[in-house]
Amino acid sequence: MGGQGEKPALLVGGRRVDGRGVEDVRPLKIVARVLNDAEGSAYVEWGKNKVLAGVYGPRECIPRHDQSLYRAVVKCRYNMAPFSGAEEHGRSGPNRRSKEISKVIKEAFENVIISENFPKTEISIFVEVLQSDGGTRCAAVTAAAVALADAGIPMKDLIGAVAVCKIDGQMAVDPGKEEDNFGESDMPIAFSPRTGDVLLFQMDGLLTREELARGLELARKASMKIREAQMEAIRKVYDEPKEDRFLLIG
Ligand code: CDP
Repeated sequence: MGGQGEKPALLVGGRRVDGRGVEDVRPLKIVARVLNDAEGSAYVEWGKNKVLAGVYGPRECIPRHDQSLYRAVVKCRYNMAPFSGAEEHGRSGPNRRSKEISKVIKEAFENVIISENFPKTEISIFVEVLQSDGGTRCAAVTAAAVALADAGIPMKDLIGAVAVCKIDGQMAVDPGKEEDNFGESDMPIAFSPRTGDVLLFQMDGLLTREELARGLELARKASMKIREAQMEAIRKVYDEPKEDRFLLIG
């Protein structure tokens, strides 16, 4: 939405700018337990996005006036590294966009973390975007869910997120940066696969009811693939535990 310069054709003969069909998700790789000192961590490569998530907690909630007597407080900080994209130069620390994304991620996880088990504590989710190419908030949710599972935080479900977009009049899943910038609409969504609940839902642009329904259908299908990749990453750290945590992704 709102891309600069002349709008390129986004859909030619049913193929998108990177050759994908409208139902295709970009290649997704997830590795869990990549950081030594975080209690849980995950690295996600999704198309050209590279996102790292680290989780701490439950630990003492500081400052104390943030504490709840009844549950753990979930905190999230989403940050783009200064070198993560052509537009991002890391000039001024947190900005409106990063605060918004941190807030929607925190709210998505507040619905699945069984926080009543840990009164007076906090669970902190840190997300660093190392490289961005459209869809970093979805990659952040997907990475954070694996990092939380790696930290052993009890959750009702393993959630993942994916965006859908409208490009040249058609709905498509998982927009890349060009589709994000020049498409007619962009809608990131997170589902709880077990209950079907929608835990994150944002929208840029306009869609008809039919387009919205088609978008939800595309996102639900894609969520299943994302969940598979998340489960595989978690299974791998238990099946092949390793002492040293380092990032090697081929
Ligand atoms: O990343 P996401 O799609 O969740 O959020 P967005 O605000 O719709 O941003 C779309 C894309 O624009 C990002 O993924 C980045 O590739 C790029 N961007 C950037 O490079 N620097 C920024 N400060 C904001 C966005």
